[in-house]
Amino acid sequence: MFTPDTSFSESSEHYYQSLNEQLAALLAGETDFICNAAQFSAFIMQTLNDLNWAGFYFARDNELVLGPYVGKVACTRIPFGRGVCGKAAMTATTQRIANVHEFEGHIACDAASASELVVPLFVGEKLFGVFDIDSPSVDRFSEIDQAGIEALLATFLQATTIQWSI
Ligand code: SME
Repeated sequence: MFTPDTSFSESSEHYYQSLNEQLAALLAGETDFICNAAQFSAFIMQTLNDLNWAGFYFARDNELVLGPYVGKVACTRIPFGRGVCGKAAMTATTQRIANVHEFEGHIACDAASASELVVPLFVGEKLFGVFDIDSPSVDRFSEIDQAGIEALLATFLQATTIQWSI
């Protein structure tokens, strides 16, 4: 059983360093793409407060297709360029949106979502998807959260053998 150590103060650099060590231990010995993506989503939901959705979309033929996640059922396909996820995919930059209701083209999968962080994921130069987290609070994600989650995703990528299709 995994019991997260969340004794550091929430959303600090130390908190994320501690999470990164715990994540590396959790994923050690497992390289499967779907397995690790599912574990990663659950790990984020279990260790960060005030989230209502965390999960992956994978790139397939100019759109993003829903992957492993934790949260309410979500939109299954998002064209590149649409919504916060599509913008992260198209621009290859992390989108940290303080208030999604002010983001033109935001796709509301869960009406409770108020702020969102979407990180594009690459293997070499090739985009293979995005990781998306939503919060019911406006301005939930700080620069420290962004850097911390990007670092956690780097650990996920290091541990995982990425496969797009079978
Ligand atoms: N809000 C996202 C869609 C995905 S869900 O939040 C799970 C967007 O605008 O791309």
